[in-house]
Amino acid sequence: MGGSEASVPRLPNVSALRWLWQERRSSTLAADQSGVWRFRDLLPILTDIEHPITLREGNTPLYELPRSAAAVGINWLLAKHQGMNPTGSFKDTGMTAALSVAAERGYEWVACASTGNTSAAMAAYAARANLRAIVLIPEGRIAWGKLSQSMDYGAITLQLKTDFDGCVRALGELIRHLPIYLLNSVNPYRLEGQKTPAFELLEQLDWHVPEHIIVPGGNLANNAALGKGFEELFHLGLISRVPKISVIQAAGASPLVRSMAANGGRELLPMKADTRATAIRIGNPASFYKAVRTIQTTGGWTEAVSEQEIALAKAQIGAEGIGCEPASAVTLAGLKKLVAQGKITREERVVLILTGHTLKDPQYTIDYHTQALLTELEAAEASAIDEVEHDSLRRQPMVLDVEGETVLRAVARMVEAGVAIPL
Ligand code: F0G
Repeated sequence: MGGSEASVPRLPNVSALRWLWQERRSSTLAADQSGVWRFRDLLPILTDIEHPITLREGNTPLYELPRSAAAVGINWLLAKHQGMNPTGSFKDTGMTAALSVAAERGYEWVACASTGNTSAAMAAYAARANLRAIVLIPEGRIAWGKLSQSMDYGAITLQLKTDFDGCVRALGELIRHLPIYLLNSVNPYRLEGQKTPAFELLEQLDWHVPEHIIVPGGNLANNAALGKGFEELFHLGLISRVPKISVIQAAGASPLVRSMAANGGRELLPMKADTRATAIRIGNPASFYKAVRTIQTTGGWTEAVSEQEIALAKAQIGAEGIGCEPASAVTLAGLKKLVAQGKITREERVVLILTGHTLKDPQYTIDYHTQALLTELEAAEASAIDEVEHDSLRRQPMVLDVEGETVLRAVARMVEAGVAIPL
């Protein structure tokens, strides 16, 4: 090959790739039906690439959120709902990849520390692969839905009397001494799987790149995985630019936000974490430097949101008929702040990544609607406008007698007034 030819990068046939990825969706092969493995041309991680451990993950919906868009003051807002995966969270896209590698390499045991979603996903995929799974979770600090899943899928569930960060330390001990395959998000194959929603999102947008992607931040791997996905598409010539990626944390668990403010992200300042969004209750995130890189290279932002702001955002998304868990709702709460600060303009097209399904943590939702969620101090942080918004969103169940025409009268009052009238 001559010198001038060698310097021309060999790019794939972009149209052929796009067609192939779409076409696989109509195939009967399990690998093709998976929204992760139909992109296997960019996932060179298995020898037997056509037989991964799959629950047909991915292929999740992209929803419009017109009322939330109006509430935050932008024209165009979509949500990619990763909670619509088989175990109800975005973790499935990474777990199919890493569990397939573990099975192909002949491991018998897998383990992870988790705030609940990773453990649910790992337990399910390990069961499909006939591997034995150990999950380490902080006692009393994970949502019931998630705990029930790892039990149902047959994992050995160890509830440790510590927080998530303590579980990670205990897991390190296990991995050092026993032949167990580590499935926390430092596992590189998980990130390979978690990059594929970036491909899927662009496919759903006819390959038009939005200006902004907003993700929740906990252990801080997901932002980097998506960033890697977009970068790969950019280098292959499928897109002409990479969207900005912003990471939002709960204020009570915001080591990234604090470290960026204190030292520009050069050094992680761990903290004792506390938030009702238990999925992201993490004070010492493993992938801190990856998140700093994602934000800096894509031109995104990081922001912290309060418990009150999270609760409101979750109710606003819910009122559009789309249930997500509190950790996912930080994205809308963060967007509100970024718009108010002028960092995102009205014309910019924004996609929220909703990471978990509302049924993961129904207690949070019930507590919100029955006004048992926030302390008085937290609730008092709401602005006057937000207070009105809370009042219009809350739907406390009404308990009625069935004697006489009580039900009819109550509903007739509401129909006449055109609003839900509390009794
Ligand atoms: N949203 C949900 C619903 C999560 O479960 C997590 C993390 C995140 C966001 C944050 O993603 O860690 O990549 O920054 N859950 C992990 C777990 C920690 O164990 O399930 P991240």
